[in-house]
Amino acid sequence: MNKIKTGSKWDLNGKYVIITGATSGIGLAAAKAIAAHGANIGIVARNDAKANEIAKQINDLSGREAVVDVFLADMASQQSIRQVAEVILAKFPRVDVLINNAGALFQNHQLTDDGIEMTWAVNHVGPFLLTMLLLNRLKECAPARIITTASHGHKMAKMGINFNDLGAEQLYKPLKKLTGGPTVRYSQSKLANILFTAELGKRLEGTGVTSYCFDPGLVATNFNQNNGMLASATMAVMKMFSRSPEKGAETLVWLAETDEISHQTGQYYADKKVELPSVPARDMKAANRLWNVSKEQTLLTDRFDL
Ligand SMILES: NC(=O)c1ccc[n+]([C@@H]2O[C@H](COP(=O)([O-])OP(=O)(O)OC[C@H]3O[C@@H](n4cnc5c(N)ncnc54)[C@H](OP(=O)(O)O)[C@@H]3O)[C@@H](O)[C@H]2O)c1
Repeated sequence: MNKIKTGSKWDLNGKYVIITGATSGIGLAAAKAIAAHGANIGIVARNDAKANEIAKQINDLSGREAVVDVFLADMASQQSIRQVAEVILAKFPRVDVLINNAGALFQNHQLTDDGIEMTWAVNHVGPFLLTMLLLNRLKECAPARIITTASHGHKMAKMGINFNDLGAEQLYKPLKKLTGGPTVRYSQSKLANILFTAELGKRLEGTGVTSYCFDPGLVATNFNQNNGMLASATMAVMKMFSRSPEKGAETLVWLAETDEISHQTGQYYADKKVELPSVPARDMKAANRLWNVSKEQTLLTDRFDL
């Protein structure tokens, strides 16, 4: 386990937390809890009206002035992420916690404007880029934390990330698509979350910025409602066996607020405990390769070398 030195006792009170995917499900439940625990929050969302309504709700609940700010960005668009990072950096002197939570699964093969397969773009490339762009600010505010919502579903990517098919052309071929190719793609993106967390933790050792990811369990949210009637019906059945968003957000909120993990970094958590992820998720050669590939996919220059 990587150890890291941090300063004084960690406490959420007065901290500034940036969170993606807080307009629904796990992220929304986490944002409410984190605000209730004394932090100020920046919601990064693509839906202006929804985000502002949620900001109003949380502000009203907190009884404090301007607890929540809204930043607009589509996590599938690198231009949008670059713009929002600029706004955050210009407007706020502090970012103490970054939570990469937005995520989705796409049943049909789609490319983003940047030419990247959509599930991979939203779940891994977008969070990678946002993290890199906010990293100096997190370092300036150290001790600081980066938390990424991964999934037990990463275990379905049994062969790891297929670096020879980053566009997932193979997984979306008709027969593969019928037999779960898009789900494997989603699993690869969640595996990427774990490898990214581990590699980031390693590269940030000694900076006071720590990196964690977690599995929320099976949670009743709006997840997979963008893939037609069959997917929605499947999710409706699964909801009967799922946790509430509040329960699903518990480990995320704990990672954001507990002092117990201040000296650890790079780990995967479930139910507030370190958990061993799959063998491919512990492959640090793949983590390093993923880092380099992600830099290429986001056109980040060597200025961002850690
Ligand atoms: N539900 C589960 O059982 C489960 C299990 C393991 C892991 N997870 C992970 O948990 C995270 C949250 O998912 P959830 O279950 O809470 O699903 P959800 O209710 O569908 O919430 C997803 C959030 O991500 C946002 N989002 C999606 N695509 C985006 C984009 N292109 N740009 C900006 N924001 C975008 C959504 O915004 P809109 O409101 O605008 O759609 C929403 O706020 C995901 O990373 C998912 O992989 C979920």
